Amino acid sequence: MQVYDKRLDIETSVAAFKKDNKSIGFVPTMGALHQGHLALVERAIAENTVVIVSIFVNPTQFNNSEDLVNYPRTLESDVKLLSRLSTNIIVFAPSPKEIYGNEMLSTPYNFGGLENEMEGKFRPGHFDGVGTVLKHLFEIVSPTKAYFGEKDFQQLQIVKKLVEIEKMAVQIIGCTIYREDTGLALSSRNKRLSKEQMANAPLIYQTLKQVKKDFGTKSVTDLSNWTLDQFKNNDELKLEYFEIAKVSDLKSITRKRKNTKYRAFIAVFAGEIRLIDNIALN
Ligand code: PAF
Repeated sequence: MQVYDKRLDIETSVAAFKKDNKSIGFVPTMGALHQGHLALVERAIAENTVVIVSIFVNPTQFNNSEDLVNYPRTLESDVKLLSRLSTNIIVFAPSPKEIYGNEMLSTPYNFGGLENEMEGKFRPGHFDGVGTVLKHLFEIVSPTKAYFGEKDFQQLQIVKKLVEIEKMAVQIIGCTIYREDTGLALSSRNKRLSKEQMANAPLIYQTLKQVKKDFGTKSVTDLSNWTLDQFKNNDELKLEYFEIAKVSDLKSITRKRKNTKYRAFIAVFAGEIRLIDNIALN
């Protein structure tokens, strides 16, 4: 298992792989790896000759400094987990300086409006930070394919747009959400949930599933009101937003139209911990 923290080391390895025409699968992560990440890595292993996993808690995508400080950092156990999948995986775990130099700045991006919806509204600057770090990482790793979970569906759409804007050759692969048996979407932030919060958190996916079930027969307003009701009296979970949006541009809707793909999106606070989830509705 090779663990590099210098971009030059990765770039040197990548140059050799490219020379040998090896395909490079890339899984960018912020560490605190869980089964959802590992499923992405397994897919990358199945589809590529070489797999690189980055572990980098990217400061520029945190709009909340406490969230950045408290974000779990578990490099040693992450490496152990990855080595169980394959000892050939290359881990890139750089310092912020290695990625950003002396100025930790993000580039302001126009992702065609995708950045102004949902997460973009509630986390100002978040997607500029995501776009900036991924541009750096894609330049360093030069991947053939890069893998992202659909839990962050808006991020996935934005990364596809980023690649288009920056004219990068990488193919972006979206992978289905990995869930606990309770239905709770796996997230590195779940590690910080209390017992009570953990017991209540499955309500998020239960609600989404019911919305999907009722989507054909109920209006968007009724579904939204019903969702608000589900969280109204819950002491552990506070609903931040619930939206039904078009997959194409992530704009929320008040009325359904024929031949249009929709998803429901939700963000919930369990104390200080922010959980998001989404589901395809049709
Ligand atoms: O989804 C994440 O973990 C992060 O947003 C990513 C894609 C690794 C960029 O820092």
